[in-house]
Amino acid sequence: MEVGGAVNGIPPGDLVLDARIGPAGARPCGPGPPRQVLLTGATGFLGGYLLARLLATAGTTVHCLVRGRTPERAAEALDGRLRAHGIDPAAVRGRVVAVSGTLSKPLLGWSADAFAAAAERIDTVYHCAASVNLLASYEQLRTATVLGTAEVLRFAATHRVKPVHYISTLGVLAHALAAGGGRRLAEDDPLPPPAGPGYCRAKWVAELLVRTAAARGLPVRIHRPGAILGDDSGAAVATTDWLMRLTAASVRVGAVPRHEAVLPLATAGHIADAVVALSLQAPPADGPVYHTVQPQHLSFADYFALVRTLGHELAEEPYDVWLDRLAAAESDSDTGEVRLAQAVEQCFPARQHGAAARIGSDAFQREVGRLGLPPAPAIDAELIRGQLDRLLR
Ligand SMILES: NC(=O)c1ccc[n+]([C@@H]2O[C@H](COP(=O)([O-])OP(=O)(O)OC[C@H]3O[C@@H](n4cnc5c(N)ncnc54)[C@H](OP(=O)(O)O)[C@@H]3O)[C@@H](O)[C@H]2O)c1
Repeated sequence: MEVGGAVNGIPPGDLVLDARIGPAGARPCGPGPPRQVLLTGATGFLGGYLLARLLATAGTTVHCLVRGRTPERAAEALDGRLRAHGIDPAAVRGRVVAVSGTLSKPLLGWSADAFAAAAERIDTVYHCAASVNLLASYEQLRTATVLGTAEVLRFAATHRVKPVHYISTLGVLAHALAAGGGRRLAEDDPLPPPAGPGYCRAKWVAELLVRTAAARGLPVRIHRPGAILGDDSGAAVATTDWLMRLTAASVRVGAVPRHEAVLPLATAGHIADAVVALSLQAPPADGPVYHTVQPQHLSFADYFALVRTLGHELAEEPYDVWLDRLAAAESDSDTGEVRLAQAVEQCFPARQHGAAARIGSDAFQREVGRLGLPPAPAIDAELIRGQLDRLLR
């Protein structure tokens, strides 16, 4: 829908990457594995796993962009993340560098000199940070997620070319997912039009900018997780994860939605293992996309059958009845689960046209096999129990 020049709420200017951002004029990236890397989002859920995996790679120093804090507070926040992953901060002192900054300001909130110096020092970028909020509008999310990604790309193309490992989301496929029709959505399909909640559209625009930079010659890899579960280590639970929040809300009301869709899932540890292992290989020139999901997909029904084996009594209800029950439970404490469910319904409509769309992940599974990574941990009842218990507490 076009309103005031904006397509689906997206101002046309947002779709254009600053013409000055590109590798022309920068030194080509050097050979060899990443040594001095910039990680965004290290204080978050998936970013914490990436930080832990990067530190397991010998010889890597991880510079973490941490927002809105003094250097001391930024370092404390990272220490907390390290401890959650069983890493003693003292044991990695000097290999984790907290850098105050923000995605929400030009040059990542740094002075021109600091930006230039960091752009010389850093050889690889892992861009995981974003405003992760399915309830917020595009307008609320665009500064950090869209403009911030453009600044990360500017950084990657300044002075020396730095490969960018970008964390996108399967939410960029909201349009194709909602269309259903039994289609298989492959990694190398063109991006469908932007659709869904503001979060999906902001991530869609950010991915478009990354793809534009790739077309200009910046080496990039794009990773699209679906729903992310914490793993057995118990390091963290994704409070940002829509599926787990809706599972907890469903357990509270004793009802689950009847739905045909297939759930794309993976554990954070598996995703981080793959992102880091792939980053040790030079990115191919075509900016490949990976659907970082399990090879076996669960239907909604299979998933909630697993939840039932944990002893929760869950009646299967039509989508609108389930929503009414969530709303009744939520009336005196607005936890946002109803709005969250409505946002999710924009990607997985209650009544699909024909069979649900399926997520293809051939390239991702091929790379996991080729790199000899451990197989994806099974999504079983015990894994779900660990996440759910912490959310229900
Ligand atoms: N969780 C999922 O199920 C899921 C699924 C698919 C894709 N993803 C993608 O995975 C990535 C990580 O998600 P997550 O679940 O780990 O989210 P999260 O826990 O909310 O972490 C988000 C991270 O981004 C940082 N951040 C947000 N705004 C920033 C800004 N303006 N400047 C600098 N840093 C900023 C946060 O910093 P603070 O600590 O200061 O808030 C935090 O470190 C995102 O790109 C998301 O789109 C997530």
